[in-house]
Amino acid sequence: MLRSLFIALSKAYWAQRWISRWGLAWRVASRFIAGETVEQALRAVQVLNQQGLLATLDQLGENTQTVQDAEQAAQGILHLLEEIERAGVQANVSVKLSQLGLVIDPQLVVRHLRQIVEKARQLNNFIRVDMEDSTLTDATLKIVADLRDSGLDNVGTVIQSYLYRSMEDTQKLIERGIKIRLVKGAYQEPPHLAYPKKRDVDAAFDRLSDLLIDTSLRFDYLPATASGRFPPLAAIATHDEKRIEHAIQRAKSCGLPVVRLEFQMLYGIRRDLQLALVKQGYPVRIYVPFGTHWYPYFMRRLAERPANVWFFVSNLFQR
Ligand code: FDA
Repeated sequence: MLRSLFIALSKAYWAQRWISRWGLAWRVASRFIAGETVEQALRAVQVLNQQGLLATLDQLGENTQTVQDAEQAAQGILHLLEEIERAGVQANVSVKLSQLGLVIDPQLVVRHLRQIVEKARQLNNFIRVDMEDSTLTDATLKIVADLRDSGLDNVGTVIQSYLYRSMEDTQKLIERGIKIRLVKGAYQEPPHLAYPKKRDVDAAFDRLSDLLIDTSLRFDYLPATASGRFPPLAAIATHDEKRIEHAIQRAKSCGLPVVRLEFQMLYGIRRDLQLALVKQGYPVRIYVPFGTHWYPYFMRRLAERPANVWFFVSNLFQR
């Protein structure tokens, strides 16, 4: 109920205008967001790198409505890749296709994504295409697969365990050697497309995690480079300790070396767990969002955890 409300709010333009202007909202949101500029985000990444954590940077933005905004977003990401290189940090980049123009014109988004992935390849970097709501799943998977088929192997995507279709999609991605970040899924989906119950989403997550780990053994995988930018085939992205433990046990039982199983978490969430996994030798990558378009991202983080809402509300009363 609370989850549906906050996901609906994340898409409501009136709420975005109202809440984004509110200094208090930014104060609470900044727990999850590394700043509004590239410089601030890179400083956050430097701190993470010093702690042994890798990063994926996300220049916030989604559902871009004009060609000009999509162009600007693409230019921003190209600039970000250069800045990562200049700063020499261990970070790759995550992008959303709706930010690059998917809802305006599919040709436009293909052009932008190709430009970004090619630039990343020149700079020896990797692009992860985030997965958005189910209206965009087919298009996202097709665009990523086409890029991979055209010879670009520095692009990967995301699978959401709440969707019934995900086992089949994962198998198709694996056949092409496309690297996968496994998540539970952050959007509101109808029951004919996604498991409504958390326990089913969790069980599906474990099944997909098993498939990724078992497959990783068959992959000719180069060990992680010092750049820390290329993830292995399997990236398990969750803060759920039971899911993490399940993946660790599976990897141990089939003899997968620790460097071939990456864990990923969101900036500002479960720092204790992030560092505990680093201590065990696993690559741990933190999703570091930054920029001025933080509103929908922040609303989805509130939707995930009622405690965040109470934190937000209690801050209201402390003013
Ligand atoms: P779950 O929701 O069961 O939470 C487990 C525990 O984690 C909670 O008990 C709490 O301790 C902690 N936790 C979880 N969310 C929290 C929050 N917001 N604030 C504080 N604590 C929290 N989704 C998507 O649809 N497309 C995508 O591309 C991505 N990309 C992505 C990248 C990375 C690196 C991560 C970690 C996640 C995503 N997601 C995503 C989001 C994902 O789908 C999911 O919504 C969140 O990770 C929350 O689910 P958990 O797996 O953490 O489990």
